[in-house]
Amino acid sequence: TLAVSKICCIGAGYVGGPTMAMIAHKCPHIDVKVVDINADRIAQWNSDQLPVYEPGLDDIVQQCRGKNLSFTTAIDDSIRAADMVFISVNTPTKMFGVGAGRAANLEFVEKCARRIAEVSEGHKIVVEKSTLPVRTAEAVKRILANSDNAATFDVLSNPEFLAEGTAIEDLLAPDRVLIGGERAEAIEALVSVYANWVSRDRLLTTNLWSSELSKLTANAFLAQRVSSINAISALCEATEADVDEVASAIGTDSRIGPKFLKASVGFGGSCFQKDILNLVYLCEYFGLPQVAEYWEQVVKMNDYQKQRFVTRMVRTMFNTVSDKKIGIWGFAFKKDTNDTRESAAIYVCRDLLLEKARLCIYDPQVSREHILRDLRSIFTEGDGVISDAKQKLIDEHVSFASSCEEASADAHAIAVLTEWDEFADADFDAIFDSMKKPAFVFDGRNKLKAMDLQGKGFEYHGIGF
Ligand code: NAD
Ligand code: UDX
Repeated sequence: TLAVSKICCIGAGYVGGPTMAMIAHKCPHIDVKVVDINADRIAQWNSDQLPVYEPGLDDIVQQCRGKNLSFTTAIDDSIRAADMVFISVNTPTKMFGVGAGRAANLEFVEKCARRIAEVSEGHKIVVEKSTLPVRTAEAVKRILANSDNAATFDVLSNPEFLAEGTAIEDLLAPDRVLIGGERAEAIEALVSVYANWVSRDRLLTTNLWSSELSKLTANAFLAQRVSSINAISALCEATEADVDEVASAIGTDSRIGPKFLKASVGFGGSCFQKDILNLVYLCEYFGLPQVAEYWEQVVKMNDYQKQRFVTRMVRTMFNTVSDKKIGIWGFAFKKDTNDTRESAAIYVCRDLLLEKARLCIYDPQVSREHILRDLRSIFTEGDGVISDAKQKLIDEHVSFASSCEEASADAHAIAVLTEWDEFADADFDAIFDSMKKPAFVFDGRNKLKAMDLQGKGFEYHGIGF
């Protein structure tokens, strides 16, 4: 086997950081360097305030950093020294040119491949950790084939299945680790890294293309479950069925299973929408419009769910929220993360602002600057400019609070947009006293106890009942 003693990971993000921290933690004999072009991010990884909030991550980083785990901007040196190079850079939806709004932007991946081709010597294993369209490894191999120093390469696909908020648990005990490749010797080299803590029966090996495609497929199936239950939530609201009861009733069928059936204000996160749109684009590219249309519906249903939430708020509140204070509880796309990419909260806040509501936002982990940046960018037009009118809307209608109690003081309504555990323990008696009446609660996560809140006098509206 090819021995792995030095790893370089390009991309110190939500995936590269935690994944490499876990490898360093479980493989003390391997030196792990995480590199990035973003010097601020590297500085944060080297500080006490890591750029990624994940339960359990601080501990692991503190244990390994300065021993066999380092974060650096010395990209070329780290690539050159490594036996194995992970590419874990972002692959966002392309926003310009061919495939705009659908295809993955592979610019950053290609730049990594070119960097590796330029500086490498000898033999290296290049591992695709980023989520990529099927057949990307072909392009990566062709770029690497033109190495400046006649270096040789194996290319593997090793998509990451961790979910944010539970990244450390997921990395410690993955359902499976997927490794796609061509040469058994290279596949075994990566298998032997994971085998330091993952049992061999969970290390699945496939061909390159199956591995690449499995990642997009897994995310499409997961998101499809959320859109399916959200579609049913709309029907529940019209019929006095209760979507959480329906979800547990169908979830007991072992063929369906209970997980990922929580109706919500809509899925967010950097992956689901991007990966489905990428799948849709690939299907169209390969001449399969029916397949493309089938999957695109998952994203459309999610857009509908976000809009529906705001429409329901406005209708319930006597058809106007203009100049009404609304306490926004949570801005992250799910609990236990500081990530807001594609968070439903961004769209709900945008639509409430367009209704001229006054928003008072509280999130336990997302900073005010970050929220303002997200709101500015959702109102930004084509060339990255925000109009004076939209900037004014934000300036005059958005404020922040340091607790959910403060966010709802004197408010007409509360909108729960992230399922942070602390929200369930809020002081609802004090909150009720401080609110305008009727005291509306729109729970986009079905997180709060409906009966208790109704008992205290709130008018409670959950998703799907
Ligand atoms: P991220 O944006 O948090 O991090 C990517 C990092 O790569 C950034 O810090 C960026 O500066 C750096 N980078 C970009 N180009 C570079 C270059 N040429 N050289 C060096 N550094 C460069 O992204 P992420 O959330 O970590 O996602 C990375 C990949 O993993 C994506 O393909 C994503 O789809 C996939 N993924 C993400 C998750 C998740 O939960 N976030 C889960 C599974 C898979
Ligand atoms: C997802 C995949 O789960 C993970 O395997 C992949 O590696 C990256 O993308 P992530 O986006 O971090 O992970 O979180 P996830 O737990 O999947 O949640 C995604 C979104 O769906 C969140 O907004 C969440 O609130 C929402 N969701 C999830 C629901 O609304 N209902 C559910 O039942 C589950």
